[in-house]
Amino acid sequence: MKQLRTQVAIVGAGPAGLLLGHLLERAGIDSVIVEARSRAYVEQRVRAGVLEHGSAELLAQVGVGARMLREGLVHHGIELRFLGVGHRLDLHALSGGRAITVYGQQEVVKDLIAARVAAGGELLFETSELSIHGLTSDAPSVHFVADGQACALQCDFIAGCDGFHGPCRPSVPPSALRVYERSYPFAWLGILARARPASHELIYAYHERGFALHSMRSPEVSRLYLQVAADESLASWSERRIWDELGQRLSGDGLALHEGPLIERAITGMRSFVVEPMQYGRLFLAGDAAHIVPPTGAKGMNLALADVYVMSRALAAFYATGEQALLAGYSQRCLERVWRAEHFSWWMTSMLHRAPDGDAFQHKLQLAQLAQLVSSRAAATTLAENYVGLPLPGLETSSQV
Ligand code: FAD
Ligand code: DHB
Repeated sequence: MKQLRTQVAIVGAGPAGLLLGHLLERAGIDSVIVEARSRAYVEQRVRAGVLEHGSAELLAQVGVGARMLREGLVHHGIELRFLGVGHRLDLHALSGGRAITVYGQQEVVKDLIAARVAAGGELLFETSELSIHGLTSDAPSVHFVADGQACALQCDFIAGCDGFHGPCRPSVPPSALRVYERSYPFAWLGILARARPASHELIYAYHERGFALHSMRSPEVSRLYLQVAADESLASWSERRIWDELGQRLSGDGLALHEGPLIERAITGMRSFVVEPMQYGRLFLAGDAAHIVPPTGAKGMNLALADVYVMSRALAAFYATGEQALLAGYSQRCLERVWRAEHFSWWMTSMLHRAPDGDAFQHKLQLAQLAQLVSSRAAATTLAENYVGLPLPGLETSSQV
């Protein structure tokens, strides 16, 4: 078996693993990133699209934000649409001058991979048979096969950035973790279309037929989502049916969707999930490996970036001075933000979707909540503060990205 050695072994090259590798590199800490998929696959995986204010600032401040600053779309507001009428929430005014940046997750991933390659950092794609060992010792290791060769990567710490289905979390004895979970009786059908966005800002629509979301990736590409049944099959959604349904839920009140050829379509299930603690011995979990939110609040990728920001600072303190307090506090520090985002995402999801078993009373409650949001500055401020995101501790922020 080929023997390798690093300080931090990072499992997974999603936003969490790649940003961690970059932050560690800046702190002079050696790492190896081990990824199961190919580079092309991870660079093309279409997922989230909204960066919180702090996430965009973090990427810019650590030197991987140049393209995001050029091509990302800075939005100062969102629209809530119900009973066929749109209502703008001025996020910028309500949050003391903060904003969101619309920039696809795969673009963040491409920028981080380019930075890793330019820095000469180890990033191994298309690995297989990964397993982790010695978590409660001070010499843990990651075993995998790369280029047909079995490898043993010795390290000081393992960062489990391997997503919800990765092997790191299941390697912890179940008795050492507590799981909190909720599933939802619906899913999202998401499309990417070569079509000019119908609106400059995102539109979250509550409609009797179900939720719809209008988003975008560029002035030529729209990203749209429809609430569908949890067990819905993509095969029953022709291109025509998708546009007709989006039109019914989003159009009207002066808004007309622009249709165009679909570049991609997929159905994503929805769940809330948190594991506590996010650490076991020398294994630190981050991002989807530790928690999942339903996508309605656009929090998933942002939480992943925030986790590894906290982890990198804890590791930097450890390697600089031997100080262990930040590492010991990693899980608790992250979980405060995670639970706030869990609540926000659950609340947005519950307010904006039609529950299959929801009755007329439920519907009226949701409308009352939406009406309050667009008429009460206090209510709108709560949404805005959560949507643009909590500040990252220790990151200097400007009010304008
Ligand atoms: P991931 O991006 O999942 O990265 C984990 C990486 O680990 C992957 O590259 C994976 O290949 C790798 N890996 C797994 N197993 C192994 C192994 N055995 N060995 C080596 N590597 C391994 N969020 C939103 O806010 N809005 C959205 O619209 C949205 N849509 C989504 C659609 C889908 C289909 C999914 C799955 C998620 C979506 N999310 C969305 C959530 C958001 O994309 C995630 O929160 C984000 O990707 C988390 O980043 P991560 O780095 O923690 O995990
Ligand atoms: C997008 C995804 C979300 O989950 C969301 O709440 C807003 C926008 C997007 O993919 O653009």
